[in-house]
Amino acid sequence: MITTIATTPISGQKPGTSGLRKKTAVFCQPGYLENFVQSIWNGIGGVQGKVLVLGGDGRFFNDRAVQIILRMAAAAGAARVIVGQGGLLSTPAASHLIRLHKADGGIILSASHNPGGADGDFGIKYNTANGGPAPEPVTKAIYRATQSLTSYQIWQSGDLDISVPGRQHLGPMAVDVIDPVADYAALMEQIFDFAAIRALFASGFQISFDAMHAITGPYAREILVHRLGAPESTLRNAIPLPDFGGGHPDPNPVWARDLVDSLMGPDAPDFGAASDGDGDRNMILGRGVYVTPSDSLAVIAANAHLVPGYAQGLAGVARSMPSSAALDAVAQVRGLPCYATPTGWKFFGNLLDAGRATLCGEESAGTGSDHIREKDGLWAVLMWLNILARRGQSVAQIMATHWQEFGRHYYSRHDYEEVEAQAAESLLADLRARLEGLPGQRFGALTVQLAEDFAYADPVDGSVTAGQGLQISFAEGARLVLRLSGTGTAGATLRVYLERYAPGPDGLHHDPQAALGPVIAACEKMTGLSARLGRAKPDIVT
Ligand code: G1P
Ligand code: ZN
Repeated sequence: MITTIATTPISGQKPGTSGLRKKTAVFCQPGYLENFVQSIWNGIGGVQGKVLVLGGDGRFFNDRAVQIILRMAAAAGAARVIVGQGGLLSTPAASHLIRLHKADGGIILSASHNPGGADGDFGIKYNTANGGPAPEPVTKAIYRATQSLTSYQIWQSGDLDISVPGRQHLGPMAVDVIDPVADYAALMEQIFDFAAIRALFASGFQISFDAMHAITGPYAREILVHRLGAPESTLRNAIPLPDFGGGHPDPNPVWARDLVDSLMGPDAPDFGAASDGDGDRNMILGRGVYVTPSDSLAVIAANAHLVPGYAQGLAGVARSMPSSAALDAVAQVRGLPCYATPTGWKFFGNLLDAGRATLCGEESAGTGSDHIREKDGLWAVLMWLNILARRGQSVAQIMATHWQEFGRHYYSRHDYEEVEAQAAESLLADLRARLEGLPGQRFGALTVQLAEDFAYADPVDGSVTAGQGLQISFAEGARLVLRLSGTGTAGATLRVYLERYAPGPDGLHHDPQAALGPVIAACEKMTGLSARLGRAKPDIVT
């Protein structure tokens, strides 16, 4: 039976870089999730007769939210919902399932790498029929719908038992509970040379994978241990927990410290990797080496032909604008089209759909390809393992030869977290107002060549997205980008992206922070950042 509940708009239900993210306590308020879900239905023209995929990363409130969304889908007349067993699906697996079942869309419950738990963050994201995050026009329509909502509809019933695979019904709607791992693992087996990776492991090559108590634990166990023969001891923190064990499920040198330390230690394994809360991010390490995400993307692009799924070559490559130009260097040598998009995976969707790009990635530990429409953590790990198996070299050797061939793009991101929104916004506004006059000006050792407020004209649909970050390029082969995060849930986070190119053959093995010294100094001179934000140093350096 359908019940209609009167409601009023809730302010601030505006999707950001990746869906709607708020403190868990906000999502747990009566009607908060319901209002947003009804707005999704209203914003996309209803779900009458449609097929949806549903699942999340298992964080606190995932289980409750899944039950509510199932009942609201039934009330809205959806024909069928495919839901991961226990309400679980990694983001890449959800994207794959939407495509595999030709579903009309899907809902993913996650706040990605943000901490979980009752005091942490929660999030919800709508993906469209191509399996990718809803593009701007859709998220805007959903936001508009939140602002005029007067009621929501929900099917009146108790909870469904979704702990066992199989079909059930909620009123007239079918609910198919499926194994969250099987289809994804099968897709990986189609793309990669599992025999070569199995032989690599059998030869004594050691790996360590940190699932950070998040969703990839079961996926990594099935793929790395069961299908590829790695020992169970390969896995760290492989049991998903609603609060990620109190940790911060962000695979970077700060939050995956233990893994990084073990790779830098005396008995280091040959390869280390980690993924985030919902399984779409990755971190790649070799014995004694941390591979920056931008470098990882470039190495993957340069070696993709060694992987069966990409043996026929790449149509093109794409990166988010703040990511380093290491990818561009590969694209130039290989004669590949290379695109720079605004931050956020949704901007890659059109390029992938149109067959203009095969690989894409972001500096924020996101790498992926046209096999799905999300970034994919375990896919990136398997790309590396397949490349390592075929090249028979260590990660350190691969990096050294890559830099020899293409030069090195020293790169780092400095995050200033939970700063006063006003201070961060006025810093950017003041710099924006000065952009036109910057070219030719010198800041320490660097001379500004180009300064712009990045706008992206989508080459496929012609849509223009403006205000995507301030980009300042220097004549000396350096670059500085400043933008505000669109995924935070408290205060503002200012991201400062720093890059400097060393063409080689010399100067390829410096400490990145030291190599970036002139860019850091130029940023300080240009913006007066530390005084304006009242911060002596960044909170997070990746
Ligand atoms: C961050 C990353 C961005 C990524 C997004 C979702 O967004 O910077 O590359 O797509 O998370 O994972 P931001 O907080 O910078 O808006
Ligand atoms: Zn994520």
